[in-house]
Amino acid sequence: MFLPNNIMVTGGAGFIGSNFIHYLFNNPDFQGRVINVDSLTYAGNLENLTEIAASVGEKRYFFEKADICDGELMEALFKKYEVDAVIHFAAESHVDRSIYGPQEFIRTNIMGTFALLEASRKSWAGRKDVLFHYVSTDEVYGSLGETGYFYEDTSFDPRSPYSASKASAEHLVKSYFHTYGLPVTVSNCSNNYGPYHFPEKLIPLMVANAMEAKPLPIYGDGKNVRDWLYVEDHCTAISAIVNRGVRGEVYNIGGESEKNNLEVVHTICEVLEELYPLKDNPVVKEVSPGLGAYEELVTFVKDRPGHDRRYAVNCDKIKKELGWSPGTDFPSGLRKTIQWYIDNPGWVENIRSGEYKKWLEKNYDSR
Ligand code: NAD
Ligand code: TYD
Repeated sequence: MFLPNNIMVTGGAGFIGSNFIHYLFNNPDFQGRVINVDSLTYAGNLENLTEIAASVGEKRYFFEKADICDGELMEALFKKYEVDAVIHFAAESHVDRSIYGPQEFIRTNIMGTFALLEASRKSWAGRKDVLFHYVSTDEVYGSLGETGYFYEDTSFDPRSPYSASKASAEHLVKSYFHTYGLPVTVSNCSNNYGPYHFPEKLIPLMVANAMEAKPLPIYGDGKNVRDWLYVEDHCTAISAIVNRGVRGEVYNIGGESEKNNLEVVHTICEVLEELYPLKDNPVVKEVSPGLGAYEELVTFVKDRPGHDRRYAVNCDKIKKELGWSPGTDFPSGLRKTIQWYIDNPGWVENIRSGEYKKWLEKNYDSR
């Protein structure tokens, strides 16, 4: 049984939020309603939810185009839908963008979380049968060397405007638990990958670029390490926390799949050659007929400023206390992801031909 009935999913039109909505409606234990609150920034894409809107209909799925920073509107939505849980995904989420323009990160990630917390506190007025779940990141813990892991009690040491804004909001969420008794839970997860991932992040960018015979830009020496979590496993982890997690507690979520960026890109090129061989790729034939292997597209570029070297989370707590573990290993998760991008070229094309193209041309010319 999935406990809350009326779940406000903020950022539900983004990558993880839309996967979470799919996950909920594919789960027969969930019989409640979802209110997707999203302002549709460049990263919000209602195409991610076309099937849900069609299959679930208007009785259990609602979309509200709204800015989480608008506290009055959030309160009105709480009332309108009798919200009893918030799963808070909405954020500016890309480190590179936070370097080019941090302001929106401060506004949405900090002020937006504050506005939602206030709306929750006022609307729920001391109720204990409700939940505010904050989707945080392992990046709040900083950067690791070659060994060691982030634990739930590791001190915060954020290095980018993105991670600093997420850390700041996480502090606020915890303060509402201690000060006002607001029932909250927090999860700090590692790098997600899977369907509907916006093609500005490493994995979808490399897949989409390779399919179009474009350069695969590797920052620095390519030896930075991330722990990769298949997005569906992230959804099952959040579900476990919402249903069984102790209020006021923090849970790390990881994929137990540490890879450096060069390894990731190398594997993408290998799998792509198997699933979408160069010889059958019409774009390659047209724009780069001499290309001998996807790997030849790898291009080393200037490093990201303040580039965190390694992230790795220890997720023993959620495993032991809530019985969760990541169900998808990296090779099979990556294969499913690449197949999804091969099967959905229109989804990428729609993104790449619009506002995002203009932004790229403006900001990435120098690379
Ligand atoms: P995303 O960028 O794909 O989606 C973010 C969504 O939030 C978009 O639909 C956007 O329109 C919406 N949004 C942005 N500003 C808003 C505002 N002011 N009001 C309402 N909606 C707004 O992000 P994602 O990758 O799906 O990440 C979701 C959450 O998970 C974020 O909080 C992020 O920090 C966290 N997280 C992501 C990862 C990852 O690997 N992607 C890892 C750890 C944590
Ligand atoms: P990214 O997907 O942006 O996630 P995060 O910075 O939040 O971990 O980047 C993942 C890793 O890939 C990170 O070490 C930066 C690197 N990277 C590249 O080398 N080239 C790229 O074009 C991008 C987007 C990322």
